[in-house]
Amino acid sequence: MKIILVGASGDVGEAAYAELSKRHEIIRAGRHTGDVVVDIGDKCAIDAMYDEVCTFDAVISAAGNVHFSPLSDHTEATFRIGLENKAMGQINLVLSGLGRISDGGSFTLTTGVLNRDPVISGTSAATANGALEGFVTGAAIELPRGIRINAVSPGLLRVSADRYGAFFPGHERVASEKVGRAFAKCVDGALTGQVVVVA
Ligand SMILES: NC(=O)c1ccc[n+]([C@@H]2O[C@H](COP(=O)([O-])OP(=O)(O)OC[C@H]3O[C@@H](n4cnc5c(N)ncnc54)[C@H](OP(=O)(O)O)[C@@H]3O)[C@@H](O)[C@H]2O)c1
Repeated sequence: MKIILVGASGDVGEAAYAELSKRHEIIRAGRHTGDVVVDIGDKCAIDAMYDEVCTFDAVISAAGNVHFSPLSDHTEATFRIGLENKAMGQINLVLSGLGRISDGGSFTLTTGVLNRDPVISGTSAATANGALEGFVTGAAIELPRGIRINAVSPGLLRVSADRYGAFFPGHERVASEKVGRAFAKCVDGALTGQVVVVA
């Protein structure tokens, strides 16, 4: 399969890459790095990425920014970062890719633990995750041509603990290999409309 992996250089993206590159052609995408560059916050850039890649069988999104902040410090502007980048950015990857992906192809998005196990300062991430998981549930029953959609919802990755661990007291860290296998389940398997939790 030819798979576009957005966010390939990140911790989650590297986990997906390590597992799926064993048997698939991976087109690595990122805002600044990769085989193609794309800013998922810009719908025109998403269209340009798909034009450049041309044909593909699967899209994995392991990208999406949110603003971590105590709820009382959030403004509309800081809250919109998660909605517009993590949520709408990934949704636009599906909307723009839908007419171009192969028959029987798949979209796999990334959410995260915070809408099921919240932490202080994580409301924006929890909101974006919830929106994305609702999108996956709703879209799955309408996708044409045998196209599937799922989300992977990892807990805090072990490799990300230095960066984010202080926000996640008491949370289990998950191994990148487990996260990679969750993406494999979505891409190589037959699931659709599911949120694959990695805890
Ligand atoms: N790390 C964790 O423990 C964890 C756990 C659960 C969920 N998540 C979620 O997984 C996603 C990725 O997290 P991460 O920790 O792997 O991130 P990361 O290590 O910071 O890497 C982010 C990746 O996404 C790309 N990227 C950033 N902004 C982008 C944009 N606007 N358009 C396209 N690509 C963009 C970056 O590309 P460049 O380097 O080229 O800029 C990089 O490849 C986030 O939504 C996060 O909430 C992470």
